[in-house]
Amino acid sequence: MKLNLLITGGLGYIGSFTAKNYLKKTKKKLFVVDNLSRGNFFAKKYSNNIILDISNSKLTKIIKKKKINTIIHLASLTCVRESIKKKRKYFNNYKSQIKFINNIKNTGVKYFIFSSSLSVYEKNRYKKNLSPYSLYKLKIEKYLKIISSKNFKVIILRYPNIIGSDPSGKLGEKNNSISRIVPLFYKNLIKMKKITLFYDYNKKVYPCRNYMHVDDISNINLKIIENLDKFKNRYQIFNIKNKKDYSNFEVLNFLSKIMKKKPLVDLKQINNKESIQQIINTKNDILKIIKYNIKYKNLKKILQTNSRWFKKIY
Ligand SMILES: NC(=O)c1ccc[n+]([C@@H]2O[C@H](COP(=O)([O-])OP(=O)(O)OC[C@H]3O[C@@H](n4cnc5c(N)ncnc54)[C@H](O)[C@@H]3O)[C@@H](O)[C@H]2O)c1
Repeated sequence: MKLNLLITGGLGYIGSFTAKNYLKKTKKKLFVVDNLSRGNFFAKKYSNNIILDISNSKLTKIIKKKKINTIIHLASLTCVRESIKKKRKYFNNYKSQIKFINNIKNTGVKYFIFSSSLSVYEKNRYKKNLSPYSLYKLKIEKYLKIISSKNFKVIILRYPNIIGSDPSGKLGEKNNSISRIVPLFYKNLIKMKKITLFYDYNKKVYPCRNYMHVDDISNINLKIIENLDKFKNRYQIFNIKNKKDYSNFEVLNFLSKIMKKKPLVDLKQINNKESIQQIINTKNDILKIIKYNIKYKNLKKILQTNSRWFKKIY
């Protein structure tokens, strides 16, 4: 099959790295659709861009015309904490994704790769008390299961927390709408402002997460594209994880050492919709299938890649 690839949300953080790495590997620009509501739109140079909402029916015509047969679907609102505060916004975000999936399912797309999240899963089962962000990810996973077929194969990738920048300082995360953990800690450390650390006072623990470098997740996406013939089933789910989990306390500690700044910390009880630790036994099957070795295994090394990029933008 000759690959005709489209990435939705391709001007976002993960999408722009995937497009950049694709260009580096193939010397070709892939197609991206993005509504520019968020993300790294300064990264337009890495892709051929269609500026449109994914739910717009014009996109269906474009997909047919360009004979797109493979989609990496990244377009979404992406923040757990924002989704708890703005439920309606995340419901609309879910509806537009379902509309998009319905629009494209009979257009000749053979492979649909969906970026889900490890946050749907806890202690090896579906989490009970899900945030709207995770709940809608799970609903989309389940809907894709129903409509998947031998002509519309679905690969679900449950990402861990994605962090890091290109060490050259040319590309990294820039999001004016939401603050993710590492940029937030960084900004507050430079300004010597108080940093809120979430904590469970009952269990006396800091929440732990799994972190992966954006370059690794982008390369995993591209390796999957190169190995599509190895995905024989109509519907497969893969949990993607780095070697070790780290607490928010450890993230702050490493970052403050790298920046040589002492943090001013405020502890706050964590919301009960957020996990303390996502204990996930995964054999990282996907990495074996595509024969990929994670490049950045160590959190400190991942955080160090931010230095040039953060200096430039903050
Ligand atoms: N970054 C992480 O830590 C992480 C972790 C787990 C899963 N994911 C998932 O990976 C995907 C990409 O995340 P990211 O960090 O690159 O986010 P991002 O916000 O940087 O990128 C998302 C992009 O999608 C675009 N977009 C949003 N809604 C759209 C719509 N309706 N139509 C067209 N474009 C739209 C935005 O403009 C943005 O450029 C998301 O689905 C997210 O849920 C991310």
